[in-house]
Amino acid sequence: MPAFDDLKRRIQSGEALVGIIGLGYVGLPLAHALHEGGLPILGFDIDESKIVALKEGRNYLKHLGPEMVQSLSKSRRFSSTTDFSRLGGVDVAIICVPTPLGKHQEPDLSFVLDSARAVGRTLRAGQLVVLESTTYPGTTRDDMVPAMLGARPKGAGPLVCGKDYFVAFSPEREDPGRKSHTTKTTPKLVGGVDAASGELATLLYRRAIQHVVPVSTAEVAESAKILENVFRAVNIALVNELKMILTPMGIDVWEVIEAAATKPFGFMPFYPGPGLGGHCIPIDPFYLTWKAREVGRPTRFIELAGEINTSMPHYVVDQTARALNDHGKAMKGARVMVVGLAYKPNVDDVRETPAAEVIDLLAEQGAVVSYHDPLVPAFPHMRKHKKDMKSQALTPETLASLDCVLIVTNHDVTDWKAIAEYAPLVVDTRNAMKGAQGRARVVKA
Ligand SMILES: NC(=O)c1ccc[n+]([C@@H]2O[C@H](COP(=O)([O-])OP(=O)(O)OC[C@H]3O[C@@H](n4cnc5c(N)ncnc54)[C@H](O)[C@@H]3O)[C@@H](O)[C@H]2O)c1
Repeated sequence: MPAFDDLKRRIQSGEALVGIIGLGYVGLPLAHALHEGGLPILGFDIDESKIVALKEGRNYLKHLGPEMVQSLSKSRRFSSTTDFSRLGGVDVAIICVPTPLGKHQEPDLSFVLDSARAVGRTLRAGQLVVLESTTYPGTTRDDMVPAMLGARPKGAGPLVCGKDYFVAFSPEREDPGRKSHTTKTTPKLVGGVDAASGELATLLYRRAIQHVVPVSTAEVAESAKILENVFRAVNIALVNELKMILTPMGIDVWEVIEAAATKPFGFMPFYPGPGLGGHCIPIDPFYLTWKAREVGRPTRFIELAGEINTSMPHYVVDQTARALNDHGKAMKGARVMVVGLAYKPNVDDVRETPAAEVIDLLAEQGAVVSYHDPLVPAFPHMRKHKKDMKSQALTPETLASLDCVLIVTNHDVTDWKAIAEYAPLVVDTRNAMKGAQGRARVVKA
């Protein structure tokens, strides 16, 4: 197979030009890792501001630090563009675009299909196309490939998958803010729509990633990613439910989890919180729920976990009202500061953050709400929530003037000591005040 042999040689020699489509949380670190692996990279994005930032060496994803963008922008082996006609020149195209849910909780594959069509317009023999966006099993073979082929210009000669061009799925396991693993050190699953495609994609990722794990098909790789995220959603729901049972019994769920985690096998700790956030855990499981209808099966674990996890902001606000009441205060008119707007610690990402709903629920009940998040200085524009709010500093005067601090996200940089020292009442959904000493009354919720 000349196309296979030629692409294999180009990947192994480091000549293969890799196009990364979508330069966000996933695509940018991946571009960096493959670049470090010695390959030339051409980044594509529809967002012109990202391309300008990359050209100027300006970082647009805080948690990555400035070095990543600076090193790429200085390199002769990296460039980026909004001109998708240049896709014809790449040897490999990797798609890292969003996969959100639509209005009715249905998968929204429009970004993936737009990218597939962009690749299809210039598809030629000797190209490998890899989808990294999280999605339901079957997307790569049954949705992406037909969209690609459907966009080929009339009169373009026939191309055979697995012989002339190659297609694979490789799920992204990026966990922004995690210090223990990087793109390079996180094992990577790869599944081809055929054996030749799987082999080429495996060779490609081995240039940059320490441990690449080939699986038999693209569908196995797609399903494995969904399993990982369903596993998290279900286990988080389980500990959230336990929290709501153990708290009224006067038992500290965090201490219970730490105690159970001393078992060296058969247990893995998950922690309760104010509700799910981010682009993955609240969304991806429902991709499977939608697909499962095709085989007439309900996804009961996913639905139940969704129900429990989405009720958590309500639970947390109810607990706050109770804590204020015990303190001789009504929620109406109470000055409540939400600490942490991002959906998880040490990132500035607010996608699907439960903090936005918590703020809405507090305001609905008449609280005067402010927030503090050193990583999110102003309330960003969000699809469902629009607010004119700015992060407030944690000064002794501000803290003392509040009726309650409600901890939603525990960034390392937050001044917990000041909160413990000056706030009168703290409702803590993250066990962030563990060990902090001061005059504040702390209620875990
Ligand atoms: N963020 C994470 O932690 C994470 C982890 C694992 C998997 N994922 C998955 O990876 C995928 C990408 O997520 P992300 O967090 O990087 O999203 P993101 O929003 O940070 O980045 C996506 C980028 O794609 C660009 N884009 C949108 N449509 C495009 C198009 N047609 N052509 C080119 N560029 C386009 C956007 O402008 C944006 O820059 C999703 O499927 C997500 O579920 C994300």
